Amino acid sequence: MATKIEKLVADYDHQNFLRWLEEFPDQVEKACRLGQNINEAPAPPAGLVVGGMGGSGISGDLVASYCRNDAEIPVYTVRDYNLPAWVDSSFLFTAVSYSGNTEETLSLYQQAVERGCGLLVVSGGGQLIDRADEAGHPVIKIPSGQPPRASAPYLFIPLLYLLDKMGCCHGPSENDLGETLKHLGNIVEELAPGKEANFAFELVRKVYDKIPVIYGSAGMTGTLALRLKNQFNENAKMIALANELPELNHNEIMGWQQMAESPENYIALFLRDSGEHERIKKRFSISGEILSSSVAGIETMRSRGDSLFCRMMTLMLISDYTSYYAALLRHKDPSAIENIEALKKKL
Ligand code: PA5
Repeated sequence: MATKIEKLVADYDHQNFLRWLEEFPDQVEKACRLGQNINEAPAPPAGLVVGGMGGSGISGDLVASYCRNDAEIPVYTVRDYNLPAWVDSSFLFTAVSYSGNTEETLSLYQQAVERGCGLLVVSGGGQLIDRADEAGHPVIKIPSGQPPRASAPYLFIPLLYLLDKMGCCHGPSENDLGETLKHLGNIVEELAPGKEANFAFELVRKVYDKIPVIYGSAGMTGTLALRLKNQFNENAKMIALANELPELNHNEIMGWQQMAESPENYIALFLRDSGEHERIKKRFSISGEILSSSVAGIETMRSRGDSLFCRMMTLMLISDYTSYYAALLRHKDPSAIENIEALKKKL
């Protein structure tokens, strides 16, 4: 007999978004192989600038947070039409667009060409690849036909290997990858819709009819908090807030007073990781005490494994299942993004 989660999948996942979650470990492995196969790395640039929007733009933040304790060059993300004035020919500009047709990213790419930056394109197709091929700029071509937000591994992991090959940061090792694939395989099994009581579904039952307030800490979990907010927005068609410690202790903490007027409308999600600074651990604990009267509950999602790569990818996949199940509980098709498409058509 089908579980209640399987019934929800049958009723609302019209375009089989579930397969992207099930294939996530395979995608991670393929993305690593793509990165390992980069055979010509440029000389180390002054910095890496990643230009992209939405599900593609987050890859710049993912690279930056992976490398932040290790990279010898800065990594910046630009989500706009214009490059900052300081981006000059000493920088490597990487245009990341899953479709290859996002106008902001095409505009950044054109400016990077005009400024004589080093250039790289990460894309599944579209105008970006056509332009790069015509100009002879290197391209990391990733498989097309998936939603961009379900393609994060393809969109950012190859850049970790590129940075490694440029001598700017250590990419994931084979051991890291092995550990990661083992944990990701377990997560896919544990969170499958056939498992009546899986923790992501149980957690989401407390979340889907409230506004999730998602908190990580500066770096990896802060970036994943932003990504989870975006996944709730796009997959579950929900509004959500995201922020990171320690910064939120200096401003957003005061906004909790408004939330306290209707705490039943909010639920906090803390993204936790074993690599946190000692003071961040303390801040999570004290923040939780203060926040508790402003929200209906505080739930914690934890990364798994030892290596940073494993911790990052496991928390990402757990987050993805969470937003997926939120979509089903809200009776939404997780693949549909009508408002985004309508706006792009009207522009
Ligand atoms: O998830 C999505 O579909 C969006 O956030 C897109 O990633 C965003 O609109 C940019 O498009 P692309 O990733 O094709 O550059």
